[in-house]
Amino acid sequence: MTSLLLTGISSLVTNDPTHGGPLGELHDAALVIDGSTVAWTGRRTAAPAADAAVDLGGRAVIPGFVDSHSHLVFAGDRAEEFAARMTGTPYSAGGIRTTVAATREATDEQLTANVARLVTEMRRQGTTTVEIKSGYGLTVADEARALRIARQFTDDTTYLGAHVVPADYADDPEGYVALVTGPMLDAAAEHSTWVDVFVERGAFDADQGRAILRAGLARGLQARVHANQLGEGPGVQLAAEVGAASADHCTYLTDADVDALASSGVVAGLLPAIEFSTRSPYPDARRLLDAGVTVALATDCNPGSGYSSSMPFCIALAVREMRMTPAEALWSATAGGAASLRRTDVGHLTPGARADLAVLDAPSYLHLAYRPAVPLVTQTFIAGRPV
Ligand code: NIG
Ligand code: FE
Repeated sequence: MTSLLLTGISSLVTNDPTHGGPLGELHDAALVIDGSTVAWTGRRTAAPAADAAVDLGGRAVIPGFVDSHSHLVFAGDRAEEFAARMTGTPYSAGGIRTTVAATREATDEQLTANVARLVTEMRRQGTTTVEIKSGYGLTVADEARALRIARQFTDDTTYLGAHVVPADYADDPEGYVALVTGPMLDAAAEHSTWVDVFVERGAFDADQGRAILRAGLARGLQARVHANQLGEGPGVQLAAEVGAASADHCTYLTDADVDALASSGVVAGLLPAIEFSTRSPYPDARRLLDAGVTVALATDCNPGSGYSSSMPFCIALAVREMRMTPAEALWSATAGGAASLRRTDVGHLTPGARADLAVLDAPSYLHLAYRPAVPLVTQTFIAGRPV
């Protein structure tokens, strides 16, 4: 194994508590990568020797972003739907069916190429771990196919057969739940780590969601939930009840929902690019943080409710619109995402962690929110290698 010393780092965010502060930030720092993992972090002047060295010339280094929520396996786009929303048409879950039709028509090669394009786009913006959901197939074969394709890009694949009731089951939603918990799960499970359900008016109710999550858990999948996006509802409570890793969206929460998140340890996944693109109120991150809830930020990149692959954009929105501090937003986009995916190997740059990091053409991470929409990520490393 060869080692690489990155030196000349103006600000190094480690999320390593031994370095103190909310982010374990070091100034005038260096980092040593050994093979695929972080071997050492500290002051530049104390850096050990390595096989090779690169001087980053005063740039900042942060842990790679952990994007804990995306829907990348799809065909087509819904730009017209976005344009209509911007002139007043509200977002509804029904738009998912438009993408389902296009996705079923697409070849494996087309779907794979689209995921590859979006993963590349994410990596350019500093994302080093991504969760990818199915949910635009909604047949046994199309869901299994989506997950098989997603697995080529990540181990964090999520079975979302319960995205919406497809048109062919409009008169028989219970029949669709039986499919999702039966033959579709049988075909999906081997390609999936997670099971997810969209609990929302127009999608699935609490009883349906419970049946779907419990069926997935019984097959060894872990649970995550789309919860409380379009209005108050049972999603967050259901996530707490089944021991889900995360409840994502959390836009409309009662005090009891906030308490349930805080006491259960379910991570609240906040997806501000969705509120941006649906012109909806942002979730109240401050309320969650002040209650002691663990918050993750993710893109939810999808062709309908929000088609951004940019974690820096989410950070800027979280800081400007959701009353998160820049430090809280960066933590939630890295360590928070890792917590949401129950990953301990990523989201931080503690010795032994996977060497996933982003180099910023800026003196500190503050510039991610301070300079919104500027492509500050100049280099991304995954498992010690530049990508
Ligand atoms: O996370 N909430 C459900 N799923 C997506 C929307 C998908 C779509 O509109 O195509 C979301 O927002
Ligand atoms: Fe989503």
